[in-house]
Amino acid sequence: MGKDNSSNAPARLPKHIAIIMDGNGRWAKKRLLPRTAGHKAGFNTFVDTVDYCNQHGIEVLTVYAFSSENWNRDEKEVAALMDLIGRGIKRYMPDLIEKNIQLHLIGDIERFAPDVRDILYKSRDRLAENTGMKLCICLSYGGRQEIVHAFNELAAEGKKEITAEDISAHLYTKGLPDPDLVIRTSGEYRISNFLLWQSAYAEYYFADVLWPDFGKKELEKALESYSKRERRFGR
Ligand code: IPE
Ligand code: IPE
Ligand code: MG
Repeated sequence: MGKDNSSNAPARLPKHIAIIMDGNGRWAKKRLLPRTAGHKAGFNTFVDTVDYCNQHGIEVLTVYAFSSENWNRDEKEVAALMDLIGRGIKRYMPDLIEKNIQLHLIGDIERFAPDVRDILYKSRDRLAENTGMKLCICLSYGGRQEIVHAFNELAAEGKKEITAEDISAHLYTKGLPDPDLVIRTSGEYRISNFLLWQSAYAEYYFADVLWPDFGKKELEKALESYSKRERRFGR
């Protein structure tokens, strides 16, 4: 994507795009590189995707960067991912400031090592007054864990009768609109615990390409597909 500023975006765009950025490991394997190299390449695609969405007036972009279940990966891979997330965000901050982007952290951030947590919280706070696109990064995130967390908060408040609005208001995504379009790359047709509650009426788009290869053309294909769909919401 990078320098190519031409646009083939359709007229009807989603307000909120959510992406399961999958396939970094396979991308690296194909090139006989360590999985970490795939994650680095994936980070670059993430940066390009943020730029594209920001330039096209997308209101919210949510990305799944690290799941609750990803803690079960090889210790070295987890450590490399932590390092990439911490240093990557730090390095990306001047850009986020310049682009007026807000940062939302979604997930159990407390599980991260203090140094990474510190970078994440400081970055979020530094960008809090921004008024542009909302970038939501799901880290140590699981949809079921999020719902359990919401119920525990409601229980602690002594709530006896719980409404759907109460649940929404206690999720990590409180205050954000539900996703209109959920994209998953790498040819896997599953949700893997992503935004379970929020995606009730989302449109899904599955791409066969691996996340590091999901460039502007691929994103525009997803947007084109979305623009042709008729959403019914049960009506
Ligand atoms: C997605 O790529 C990134 C994370 C889950 C952190 P993967 O690491 O899952 O790559 P594959 O699915 O093994 O190819
Ligand atoms: C989902 O991908 C999580 C992220 C992209 C961060 P995974 O690779 O962890 O999911 P599974 O294991 O294929 O379901
Ligand atoms: Mg994967």
